Amino acid sequence: DWTMSSFVERAIKEMAETVGDRHVVCALSGGIDSTVVAVLLHKAIGKRLHCIFVDNGVLRLNEGQEVVDYLREHFDLNLKYVQAQRRFLDKLEGVEDPEQKRKIIGYTFIEVFDEEAKALGHVDFLAQGTLYPDVIESVSHKGPSAVIKSHHNVGGLPEKMNLKLIEPLRELFKDEVRKVAGELGLPDFIIWRHPFPGPGLAIRVIGEITEERLDILRKADKIVQAELMSSGWYRKVWQGFAVLLPLKTVGVMGDGRTYEHVIALRIVDSVDAMTADWARLPSELLERISSRIINEVKGVNRVVYDISSKPPSTIEWE
Ligand code: XMP
Repeated sequence: DWTMSSFVERAIKEMAETVGDRHVVCALSGGIDSTVVAVLLHKAIGKRLHCIFVDNGVLRLNEGQEVVDYLREHFDLNLKYVQAQRRFLDKLEGVEDPEQKRKIIGYTFIEVFDEEAKALGHVDFLAQGTLYPDVIESVSHKGPSAVIKSHHNVGGLPEKMNLKLIEPLRELFKDEVRKVAGELGLPDFIIWRHPFPGPGLAIRVIGEITEERLDILRKADKIVQAELMSSGWYRKVWQGFAVLLPLKTVGVMGDGRTYEHVIALRIVDSVDAMTADWARLPSELLERISSRIINEVKGVNRVVYDISSKPPSTIEWE
């Protein structure tokens, strides 16, 4: 793609000029945006880029780790994996309110990241994978969506840390970032990875977050991911995931009554997450996902499919 290859060249050149011989810190999330930012910057400034990956305890099974492994294997870059699970989960204990969850995760992330960045010394810039929709969603006068959910990945960090921002993707939409990733030779599992929110599974475990509830959600979600991939639907949908609801319902197994958790499936089509519609998956696939979750995930006896569009619903449930 001609446009994207010239974008890559220009972005690398501009960042190399801006940074000069100074240092940049970058928060790697495991998603395509921050991965593309890291690879572009690595090409621009090499080892003067310092990537930090924070495990916040609310990641999916393997979310992040695969990307970290890939980057370590293919690029000679500075990358630190910070195990901060306990710190986040302790603060989230007993918290049910979605915005409170976002705030706690946002603040704790900033704290951990700030400590790690300070430990590096000598850093002048912070690189972020902000996209165009993030930019307009955070400008409050452009619409009400900015106050509906506080997306912590925009803002917060640079003010607190006194760093200059580098946001090479801020004019791009997701499909363009995918083209850039292709241009950079990144593998399909990174290019086609679904977006994953900063607050992670915390906003998909509706209500209180416990290790047990996280564990149920991870197992159910893993089945959703596996079935979307093996059926070829993973690439056709924008996002697909499981949500653990804060209620139990009655079921029957053998000649016994069960009283267990409900999993909701949220699988949507979208071009930029500003609007979305529920994906019309084949009923055989939905059936397979449902029966696998109920049979394989202990503690779940019911699966429902979310058939709401955005607006008036949102993609995430919290
Ligand atoms: P909603 O639920 O607002 O989601 O329709 C739109 C897109 O944004 C993601 N999302 C978030 N991403 N921090 C993030 O980094 C957040 O707090 C957050 N909330 C929602 C969501 O997964 C979807 O792609």
